[in-house]
Amino acid sequence: MSATVYLETFGCQMNVADSERADVRLRAAGFDLTSSPETADVVIFNTCSVRERAAHKVFTRIGEVRRRRIGSEPIVGVMGCVAQLEGASIFDGSPSVSVVAGTRATDRLPQLISRALDGERRVIDLDERAAGEAWDLPATARTSKYVAFVPIIEGCNKFCTYCIVPYSRGREKSREPSDIIAEIHELHRHGHHEIHLIGQNVNSYRPKTESGLERTKGATPFCRLLRAVAATGMERIKFTTSFPRDFHRDIVAAIDEHENLCEWIHLPAQSGSDRVLRAMRRGHTASDYLKRIDAVRSARRKLSITSDIIVGFPGETTADFRETLRLIEEVGGYDGLYIFKYSERPNTPAASLMDDVTLEEKSARFMELETTQRSFQRKIYERYVGREVRVLVEGTSSKFPSDMTGHSTCHKVVNFRGTELMLGKVVNVRISVAKRNSLYGEVISAP
Ligand code: SAH
Ligand code: SF4
Ligand code: F3S
Repeated sequence: MSATVYLETFGCQMNVADSERADVRLRAAGFDLTSSPETADVVIFNTCSVRERAAHKVFTRIGEVRRRRIGSEPIVGVMGCVAQLEGASIFDGSPSVSVVAGTRATDRLPQLISRALDGERRVIDLDERAAGEAWDLPATARTSKYVAFVPIIEGCNKFCTYCIVPYSRGREKSREPSDIIAEIHELHRHGHHEIHLIGQNVNSYRPKTESGLERTKGATPFCRLLRAVAATGMERIKFTTSFPRDFHRDIVAAIDEHENLCEWIHLPAQSGSDRVLRAMRRGHTASDYLKRIDAVRSARRKLSITSDIIVGFPGETTADFRETLRLIEEVGGYDGLYIFKYSERPNTPAASLMDDVTLEEKSARFMELETTQRSFQRKIYERYVGREVRVLVEGTSSKFPSDMTGHSTCHKVVNFRGTELMLGKVVNVRISVAKRNSLYGEVISAP
């Protein structure tokens, strides 16, 4: 009988994409994937290290899973960002772990697990991807049958001083456009209605060759890719994350020209203080950022904008924090904002600075920023009442089983009364109620 593997994923969409890839490679090697950590022969965690709390989570989960086991001890493996960063020291801290697979070892996971099943105690692989390794995944292997993540660039060269990602994911590597386009055609044929082009910074996309892209249209390779992806006929195309420094107006022009490029941009500001932005080495000032926002606001279609902010970066004064509040006011509030308290990450440049904003102060700034954002967000959401949005139906609402849920093209969560027959379809919903983080409405036309 073949061994069963349980795979659990933390962190960003890149990890979700890597887990899908691991899943395919494991099945191809003859493993059975299971949803039961209590009985699986092998339990693998795909981990995130972006903040301290995220990095700790895996160790708590290993303990929980072991306590709930029915029968023998499993082979435990740690893959992803924590594995890449902590390497062999994981074996010392957590003796039940016998496999450590870094962020570029996904394709070798079957062999690593087999060695552990054969009795090897400390199997570790922190190497690069093999030359010519394929990125593509069959459409049938996706976590969601409706929305597919398509990585276009992995790694990060930006080295923002607080961030661990360049260390855990390595240097930027862009995928060839012809591969990306072929994968999207396959997803389209298979019935996926929506794809997300993903990367730490999608607009830093720089492939080795531009085969399959028209040279003339748009100033940047990312923009040429966007136009080529739009030409596949895929119904809804979203992309994330956009790096403000390299955010070019041509992206807005492409969205204006192609209806299937969705009206949503995730453009993380991180701070509104030039002093803090410099210390973060983001490569943009508050006024540069606001110019990008102006470009987005000048689009023919109304585009949603979301962002990330870090509060309590080392040395952030009350005056710096006020600048961040001012930035939010000048933006006019976001359609969604993710706020994070600064978390020191080992060996990043900012770790050598004194983490001098107290936790109480970080919490107070977090709450004040959240309150400001909320009041803007309420008004933004209320403007949707009476309007129609196009929603891809992705599941049943977790709170009300008679309601279905999905995302609009402007990437808002929309709930409405419906049935499972609507799953995977695109429906028009007229919004009747604006909630805190979602919209509610009635379906007015179903296919
Ligand atoms: N590549 C994306 C972000 C990836 S990490 C970008 O440049 O925008 C996702 C978010 O986590 C970041 O935008 C940042 O707001 C937050 N983050 C990253 N490192 C952090 C740290 N050390 N402490 C707190 N938040 C952090
Ligand atoms: Fe981290 Fe900055 Fe790279 Fe984003 S751009 S992943 S914040 S180093
Ligand atoms: Fe986390 Fe690694 Fe993504 S640190 S945010 S899983 S790149």
